[in-house]
Amino acid sequence: MTPPSGAPPTVVLDEDALRDRVEALAHEISNDHPDGVVFVAVLKGALILLADLVRHVSVDVSVDFLAISRYAPDSGRVRILKDLDLDVTDRDVVIVEDLVDTGLTLAYLVQHMSDRGARRITTCALLNRSERRIVPLPVRYVGLDIPGDAYVLGYGLHADDRYRNLPFVVRADPDTLRADPDAYLDLYAAEPRS
Ligand code: IMP
Repeated sequence: MTPPSGAPPTVVLDEDALRDRVEALAHEISNDHPDGVVFVAVLKGALILLADLVRHVSVDVSVDFLAISRYAPDSGRVRILKDLDLDVTDRDVVIVEDLVDTGLTLAYLVQHMSDRGARRITTCALLNRSERRIVPLPVRYVGLDIPGDAYVLGYGLHADDRYRNLPFVVRADPDTLRADPDAYLDLYAAEPRS
């Protein structure tokens, strides 16, 4: 359920839950990649997840970034703005995403890594909105599954490039934000209710 317009946002993952989930994901990824791994983070949303994740991974890690632009929501057409610097030929790659929704972006990225010769390609996403999936791609490492109508902000996730630096994830109301982009500035002052 979407919170009613004007309702205060509710917490989806608070700071403790984020720490627990990220540590668990890092542990799983480490176990699955004893010979090391390349993390490819999708800018900008995955930046914070990546930074926290790599500090808990206990195997050799290389990091690279992709910047993309989507031509239109749900179109599946993606343009690469910044490509890989590393050679991922025969490497195990984990694509790090903030949120997988339709899976269209992910499908493009998996193909892109495959074209670059990666040996094994898996995905880690903080949030998974599988109800809205168009491309049935599995996400191997998931922080949390969220409902199809949950619009979320914080910990990298943005609205108009704002609210990324909230240290927790909240479920917000898009109509409220459209009417007043400052509507959630109070979140910087206090921990919202869960
Ligand atoms: P898709 O899986 O190709 O549909 O695209 C997922 C991308 O859309 C994510 O990486 C986010 O950047 C963006 N996105 C989707 N839902 C939300 C949301 O609720 N809040 C903020 N960004 C979102």
